[in-house]
Amino acid sequence: MKIKILLITVAILILLVGILLFLGRKIDVKTNKKVSNLSEELQEVFYLGSLAPNSHNIQSWEITVYPEKEYVVIAADPEKKLDVIDPKGREVFISLGCYAKTLMKSFEAYGYKTEYSFDEENKEITVKYHKSSEEANLGLAELIKKRHTDKRGFENQALSSTYLSSECESLDPDFYFENGSPEFEAIKKSTLDAYIVQANDKEAAEELSNWLRLSNAETKKTKDGLPAEQLGILGIKKSLYYLTTNHESAKGETFSKQGIDTARKQLEGCSGFCIISSENTEKQLVECGMQTVELWLELTDAGISVQPMSYAIEEEEYKANLQSVLNIDNIQMILRIGYTSEYGCNAGIRRDLADYISVK
Ligand SMILES: Cc1cc2nc3c(=O)[nH]c(=O)nc-3n(C[C@H](O)[C@H](O)[C@H](O)COP(=O)(O)O)c2cc1C
Repeated sequence: MKIKILLITVAILILLVGILLFLGRKIDVKTNKKVSNLSEELQEVFYLGSLAPNSHNIQSWEITVYPEKEYVVIAADPEKKLDVIDPKGREVFISLGCYAKTLMKSFEAYGYKTEYSFDEENKEITVKYHKSSEEANLGLAELIKKRHTDKRGFENQALSSTYLSSECESLDPDFYFENGSPEFEAIKKSTLDAYIVQANDKEAAEELSNWLRLSNAETKKTKDGLPAEQLGILGIKKSLYYLTTNHESAKGETFSKQGIDTARKQLEGCSGFCIISSENTEKQLVECGMQTVELWLELTDAGISVQPMSYAIEEEEYKANLQSVLNIDNIQMILRIGYTSEYGCNAGIRRDLADYISVK
């Protein structure tokens, strides 16, 4: 009898684990690429471009394509912003720059040449494009799909000397701070302290909660924001996370404590931090975003994982203090970088193209 009960319990447990694993598998949101009056090739280019890094994955972009004149206008979506942590739209313009550069790389992958310009009056980016080769660069397209934000802890090993001595073009050694250096410790401390401030700030917690996606159904509906996949949570952990979290509890103390714990582990596991700085005009911020993507793709190619950590930049007091300790003006991006055993790829949580692309 006892053996029978034991067997039934084991069977139920196996079934339960199976269900949790099944529910926790990676979601495929199936972005619809269809845009009327846009060729299939351009639809592919724009989908690839949409895999750009962007703050909180809010995808604050509005795109107008002029296929006959061969140019694209990229502007911020005034409805999509992060008023609490980004009141001046600093991250919106960096994200627009990330989008523009990823789009230009996507054009390049399909054999197009591009030219960028910024209209300071209308705060819009223009990208001119022209097909110059029938040969696709599949390697570049794969690199764009591979690039993603990795929120796991990385290995603590130093960056490879081959990368630092010969492969790295976009990483400025004066703006890279290795794990263990005094500058690294200063960035780590400011980032964690600022994270704690935000985690305990009701308005910041509410804004984050609004952009969290807490079920597959919610993710499939909005195709944006931060579902478990964007937080690096998968499998049984994803199922348990969705079962135990809702938008109310995500504003609470337990959730904020877990976030602080995760941030601490992230900061402890990495090779170092890269810093990108620029002036604060919209044009310079856009170009900072473009530089970020250039560097990020290079790091991806070298098998180095990346997570931007913006908390210390979002809190004025911490930013000013960090800038004075590092003797760097106008810090705009802090990238935590390092190696992981398995690189992974972009979760592809992106909106349908027709939601934000219009063709003239
Ligand atoms: C300006 C900017 C700031 C960001 N800040 C953070 C951050 O503080 N913490 C973090 O985990 N990710 C940060 N990210 C990464 C975004 O959350 C990420 O790019 C977005 O969710 C899309 O995911 P993907 O990079 O995997 O495509 C930032 C990205 C940008 C462009």
